[in-house]
This record gives sequence, structure tokens and C-alpha cells, in this order.
Amino acid sequence: MATAKANKLYITDTILRDAHQSQAATRMRLDDMLPACPVLDSIGYWSLECWGGATFDTCMRFLNEDPWERLRALRKAMPNTKLQMLFRGQNILGYKHYADDVVDAFVKKSIENGIDVIRIFDALNDTRNLQAAITATKKYGGICEAALSYTTSPVHSKEYFVKLAMELEEMGADTICIKDMANLLLPYDAAELVKELKAHVKIPIHLHTHNTTGTGDMVNLMAAQAGVDIVDTALSPLANGTSQPATESLVATLAGTDRDTGLDQKKLAEAAAHFRTVADRLKEAGSLDSKVLHVDTKTLMYQVPGGMLSNLISQLKQANAEDKYYEVLDEVPRVRKDFGYPPLVTPTSQIVGTQAVMNVLSGERYKMLTKESKGLLRGEYGRLPGEVNPDVRKKAGISDDEVITCRPADNLEPELDKYREEVKDIPGFNGSEEDVLSYALFPQVATKFFASRLEKDKKVAVTKPADNGPRVLYVDDCSIQ
Ligand code: CO
Repeated sequence: MATAKANKLYITDTILRDAHQSQAATRMRLDDMLPACPVLDSIGYWSLECWGGATFDTCMRFLNEDPWERLRALRKAMPNTKLQMLFRGQNILGYKHYADDVVDAFVKKSIENGIDVIRIFDALNDTRNLQAAITATKKYGGICEAALSYTTSPVHSKEYFVKLAMELEEMGADTICIKDMANLLLPYDAAELVKELKAHVKIPIHLHTHNTTGTGDMVNLMAAQAGVDIVDTALSPLANGTSQPATESLVATLAGTDRDTGLDQKKLAEAAAHFRTVADRLKEAGSLDSKVLHVDTKTLMYQVPGGMLSNLISQLKQANAEDKYYEVLDEVPRVRKDFGYPPLVTPTSQIVGTQAVMNVLSGERYKMLTKESKGLLRGEYGRLPGEVNPDVRKKAGISDDEVITCRPADNLEPELDKYREEVKDIPGFNGSEEDVLSYALFPQVATKFFASRLEKDKKVAVTKPADNGPRVLYVDDCSIQ
């Protein structure tokens, strides 16, 4: 009924990455993906997000899969669609700052093995932490999507995000992503923000939200009306709740309008039919709990991401102090203010949450500070968006001249050669630069994985399903679970 219009809305489907990271502890296997690849590749998505984030760690840790092998297989199976990954700035896919030579090598190998689009974010929106990854992405011919980690606070105004987006455009970004990992962005604010960004930057705007608080579809629709270029959705079997809004619903909504996506609903249905069986398998394996599908509006009330709430509950349970839940919820925004309003996303969500729990349980605020809290206050993660409370910094024993004001990675010597040296005698290391990088990011996990890969290669005929591992609280990029 509809014809494709010049103003069509482009879609990135997250079914192969964020959808299962958000709903099923990142446990989708390559075997779950491959049968659907021909149809996925024929749909005409702007891109398919399929790698990065927690998938890399989980592949090796729980699924006994080589993440690089997975990427190459997906590339081969989907030659016509751009493949996209999520990259944590200077943290790459890990949880600490790596030296620039590791960032450069990781980007190079990601692109060589099949990645087209690299979405790069920093938890603090410190652009200095994005520079090395942006430079490398451009150098190796990738499409560089720089992200704004969206949050709300007195310093995170529309003007703040517009200025940030303009800076990222200046730094070489090809597209800008509004990364609303906690689904805090409300529909009317989304429309305003998109309009402002469109008025000030020339490159396409890509919106990433979740449906945790139940507003995701409205956010996407309002953003579409305001002129956003690309949005993220997930095929329905793993959509909604802590995941992205459903692809099919948005495609049907916009069909015949001036934002018609042009995507074929029959093909989407065919792909969805396959992923329904995958979702069933994940449910049976205990990786998918239907709780993740419920609308949780606490985030809207407390501005605390869903994943952080479940983490707080489990920390309080361990301390036998579940009755302190609401006190802790009230303490979180105070700690966040004292710490200069960091967006709450890995790793800052865990740092602020844990400090809030300690402040309440010890009966005195900042009687004890965690190593991570001190690191954040010292500037080890980068520049905090707002002013740090000087009294709290003093309580942490950090004098003004101890605060790091340079880019944190400037204090790191090149480290790739050290990893090359360390890994070379580890049993099962295959001699590739990809293996060196797996080891650089996750030394213990990779060492164990190399050994089990070696075992697997010895017993070629074993077809036992991969161990799904225990269900862990995987609080990650999108602060979910
Ligand atoms: Co996300």
C-alpha cells in the first residue's frame, strides 16, 4: 500500500546483540542466529547490531564460542547488511581504560573481521575517552557512530547534549547516537532533543532507547515525527521490557506515512518466527525470565536505571537490610550530585549504587568510600559532568593536586607488546592477533576459553549443547537485568 519515501526512517535491529543482552543475559548463540541470517540480510535494515557490548565476554565465559569466529560467520552469512557493534570508548569491551595501542588494534581487527558501524560511548561523556576509538574507526574505514550517554540532571540540559553532539561531529563522527540506556528519555523530550540536534549538526541522528519504563514506542514515534534518521528496534520475540521496542510494530505504524521504513513485514514475520523458537529455548534454559518484560516505572520516579534497582536489592539482601531499600533509593541521587552527576551506566551505576548502599548501612555518609568511588572522584574515569562536592572529595582523602585532569589513558604506556608476550605460551593460544586482543581484555576468561577450545578441537564430533552457565546479574551497557 505504501511507497518508499525520500524521508524514510531507517531501522537498526538489535536482535543479535542488545535484545538478548537486555532480556536473556546475552546468551544467544551463533547457532541460534545463523538460520535466520539469510532473511535478516534481505530485510533492508540500516544495520544489524550483532557484536560488542557484553557479547564478547559472554561468548568466551559462558558459551564456549570464539567471539571473532562468531563475527566472521555473521559477516559471511549477511554480506548485504551493515554489521554494527557497541564499543565502550577507552574501555573497549571491558571495564577499565586500555592504552591507545590496544584500542587501535581492537578497532582494526573488528573492522577486518566484518564490522561496518562502531557505536562508541563513554559513561561520563568525556569526549577525550572517545578520541582514540573515533580516530581508529576512521583510519580503518569504519562508520563511526559517536554516542551521547543520555541522562537527566541539572547539568544535562538540551544545550549540553547539542554542544556535545557538535563536538563529536567535529571530532569526525559519521552519525550521532542518542543512547538512552535506561529509558529515561520521555517522548516529548525526545522530540525536542531530536529537533535541536537536527538544527545544529549535519550528520544523521540515531536513537537508541529501551522499553523498560513502557515509553519506548512513544519515544521512537515522537522522534520519528521530529525527524530522527535512524532508530533501534528489536524483532518482537525479544522486544519490549528491558529490551528495545518491537520492530514490526514501528514498521506497521509508519507504513504509508512519510516516514515509511520500507521494510517488508512478511520478511520480518519470517525472521520473528525463527527467533520465537530461540526465545523459547532461552526461557527453557533459564536465561530469560518473564520479569524483564514487565513495565517498571520506578526508573521514572527515581531516575535510577532498572538494572541498578535489581543490583541494589541484591546488595541489600546480602546485608540482610532489605528494609533500607527506600532509604537507599533516596540516597542514590544525593551521591550522584556529590559525584558531579555522572550518567548512570556501566561502570558509574555500580559505583554510585554501591556507595549509596554503604552510606545508608554504615549510618554515616562517606564514613567509608569504595576504591571505585575514590577513583571516580580522583578523575580516573575521566572528567565528571558537574562539580564534585569538595567535602566529599576531602573525606575520600584526595587533595586538589591529586585530581587527574588529563585524559586518563595519557597515563598509560603502550601495552599490546606486553600482552603478546604474556599470551604466547598459554595452552590453546592460536597465535592470532585476535587471540591476543581477547586475552588483553579478559585475561582469565580468555585463558580458560583457549584451553577449552583446544579440548573441543580434539573431540571434533562432540555436539553437546553449550553450557548456558548460571544466570548472573549482568548489569552492563544498558544497565539492565
Ligand atoms: Co541498550
